[in-house]
Amino acid sequence: MDSTLLPFLHSKFTMTKTFIPATTTITTIIFFFLTTSAIAAQPSNHRPPYSCDAADPATRSLRFCDTSLPISERARDLISRLTLDEKIFQLVNKAAAIPRLGIPYYEWWSEALHGVAQAISVETGILFNRTIKAATSFPQVILTASTFDADLWYRIAKVIGTEARALYNEGDAIGMTFWSPNINIYRDPRWGRGQETPGEDPLLTSNYAVSFVRGIQGDGFEGGKLSDGHLQVSSCCKHLTAYDLDKWKGFNRFTFDAKVTKQDMADTFQPPFKSCVEKGGASGIMCAYNLVNGIPNCADYNLLTKTARGDWGFKGYITSDCDAVSLIFEQQKYAKSHEEAVAFVLKAGMDVNCGSYLGNHTKSAVEKGKVSESDIDRALHNLFSVRMRLGLFNGNPTALPYGQLSRNDVCTPEHRGLALEAARHGIVLLKNSGNLLPLSKTKTKSLAVIGPNAAVAKTLVGNYAGPPCNPITPLEGLKSYVKNIEFNQGCDTINCTFISLGESLKIAEAADYVILVMGLNQDRESEELDRVDLVLPGEQASLVTNVAKAAKKPVILVLLCGGPVDVSFAKHDPKIGSILWAGYPGEAGGQAIADIIFGAHNPGGRLPVTWYPNDFIKVPMTDMRMRPDPSQGYPGRTYRFYRGEKVFEFGYGLSYTKYAYKFLSVSQRVINFKNAHLISYEQESAKSISISDISSESCEKAKFSAAVGVKNHGKMAGKHPVLLFLRGDGDADGRPTKQLVGFQTVSLDANEEATLEFQVNPCEDFGRANEEGSMMMESGTHHLVIGDQEYAIHTYI
Ligand SMILES: *[C@@H]1O[C@H](CO)[C@@H](O)[C@H](O)[C@H]1NC(C)=O
Ligand SMILES: *[C@@H]1O[C@H](CO)[C@@H](O)[C@H](O)[C@H]1NC(C)=O
Ligand SMILES: *[C@@H]1O[C@H](CO)[C@@H](O)[C@H](O)[C@H]1NC(C)=O
Repeated sequence: MDSTLLPFLHSKFTMTKTFIPATTTITTIIFFFLTTSAIAAQPSNHRPPYSCDAADPATRSLRFCDTSLPISERARDLISRLTLDEKIFQLVNKAAAIPRLGIPYYEWWSEALHGVAQAISVETGILFNRTIKAATSFPQVILTASTFDADLWYRIAKVIGTEARALYNEGDAIGMTFWSPNINIYRDPRWGRGQETPGEDPLLTSNYAVSFVRGIQGDGFEGGKLSDGHLQVSSCCKHLTAYDLDKWKGFNRFTFDAKVTKQDMADTFQPPFKSCVEKGGASGIMCAYNLVNGIPNCADYNLLTKTARGDWGFKGYITSDCDAVSLIFEQQKYAKSHEEAVAFVLKAGMDVNCGSYLGNHTKSAVEKGKVSESDIDRALHNLFSVRMRLGLFNGNPTALPYGQLSRNDVCTPEHRGLALEAARHGIVLLKNSGNLLPLSKTKTKSLAVIGPNAAVAKTLVGNYAGPPCNPITPLEGLKSYVKNIEFNQGCDTINCTFISLGESLKIAEAADYVILVMGLNQDRESEELDRVDLVLPGEQASLVTNVAKAAKKPVILVLLCGGPVDVSFAKHDPKIGSILWAGYPGEAGGQAIADIIFGAHNPGGRLPVTWYPNDFIKVPMTDMRMRPDPSQGYPGRTYRFYRGEKVFEFGYGLSYTKYAYKFLSVSQRVINFKNAHLISYEQESAKSISISDISSESCEKAKFSAAVGVKNHGKMAGKHPVLLFLRGDGDADGRPTKQLVGFQTVSLDANEEATLEFQVNPCEDFGRANEEGSMMMESGTHHLVIGDQEYAIHTYI
């Protein structure tokens, strides 16, 4: 048996987990899980009530139960049977049962950010207290993003959807609408929820959104196997829009008014949502708490109805973030009364309120003439249509696609293996002086493992996690390689106000190698908790430095954290030989870390965010501008615009081998839009034109492919993400320094070479927003960039 699999089979332990719900009004409760085995032995003897149940002939014959009819007709029929009161109690996340029509209670709120999850202090749609007690816990999204592997993202989401549907089929779920993924751009490194996102780049985030939604929703997407819109589970793109500040100094997400320029909105904040809807086919959207330019997101008709439903063609339901509607009158003072707040959101296009506010105030809004019953019917139509697409009005769903999934499809060896694969491929090697890593399996006789993140299972899963199948801490992972390990936590808590230096030095001096597992946890960065600095907490850095001084050989520093930390001290300290960033690596994370340290896996992850120096904190987190303003000393944000010093840059990541790139051929070197048929192109002399003015034929003709050779020059096989950037000449008028336009991963043996084809669509990839928020094409030279290789493309307009 492969010894690296042992922890999966043998470890048993207790896991403490705190879940912070997405609401202010609910207090957090700590609870305990005992996960000896994922699944209880006795069969499930309960069965959820189903709408349109064959066993209930009185309701089975109702028109909305007729599955041969189009969903919109069924939804209309159902709504026509409801009284006003019944309708109102469908507008909240805990949608009431309607027993006279055989419709059970429905919970709209479920979570599945990186595995089927659960909100603890409130009853959400997933219960882990019946047949199924755990689900596969994949790495927190920020680490999965650093694989730059869209196929892996898709496979993970597919597993999450499978496990979710299995929970439903077993009677362990009362909702199939998941409020994931979180695709806000990770704009500021201090954001406590940055860990939940795929990072700071719009293309990376867009592609993640598409893979996630398609994977979790099942094969109903365009081009998928089921073309009828049938959903495995429903996915929700959140939080629309420009939401990326939780609680920082005197500001909080509930009242923060994000001042966003049209330019940043067009090419930073909105693209992930547009892709999530247009290409992913998401069936849900969540509007965010905050205001944007003075308007609360959930009350913004232009955003929800004109942009999302109109421009993007969104077909699905829109939920508020939890209690967001109550804020509009009570805290934001945007509405003058409860009833006006109700009218704002229903007329803006929101459909369901997480919380109880619409249940409390819609009746009086109708009585006062602020909303009409047709406003409510509009929302209900979206809500019931999604429930019908989920097959929840088809009687017993076992006959439906996904109806046979069961407890046997949860926490399977394949699923847990995928969690390990994701962690292994996501972990980023930041430093490896003198090829310290990998350590030799045979020659390493003893290890000292030190640090507050070495042996805490709860830290592995980050936030929005469910109970994992079988978590493996870094300490346990390392034990599968080396028997002689001395462990010391080093710090009292993650805050590290007190260090046990004597004990740490003692074990460090005695060991062949020292591994320090440091970083952050949810006490330092989480929902409602943005950071105020970017350094390791308390005495952590001092512990690392002192241990490194005492150790026989350079030490290995492993960082568990979602957001970036300024570890310049470690980068420059020759006694710290290697640095690994492991995000929050999920249930198999400790094994993945050990596999990398001992060379069973060659790391290939690349950073999905810029690692700024701590000095960046002089920039107010509240300043939403992406572009720099040198006149004000404002440095700009993310690799696309930030001009200052970096600790590590976006896309950075080493491996145990070396890769070289070469542009082999590019199918068009000159792209001529000059003779193109332009729909409304008037200024012949202009240097740039709006892309919407270029005909689709010209856009089609402009597409080209770039063949890139990639060679593994090292001695070890590896999987490598190849990132294709575009840069223009100069950065005039708010042009990004460079911009990711494509990425692919390739697996190469030592000395192997492969050719990757990148498809480039200039009308999408060469565009940048102007100050009015229009995407523009510029004439001039654009450079394709991969690593140190560049290739010039000339555009004429
Ligand atoms: C499971 O949890 C739900 C929600 O808290 C609760 O209503 C239910 O009674 C619990 N069931 C069992 C079997 O403990
Ligand atoms: C709705 O009314 C109930 C009962 O009065 C109250 O407990 C709840 O806080 C109200 N909800 C909101 C969001 O105001
Ligand atoms: C650790 O520090 C954070 C951030 O300053 C604080 O919110 C938290 O309460 C502290 N935790 C402990 C255990 O001291």
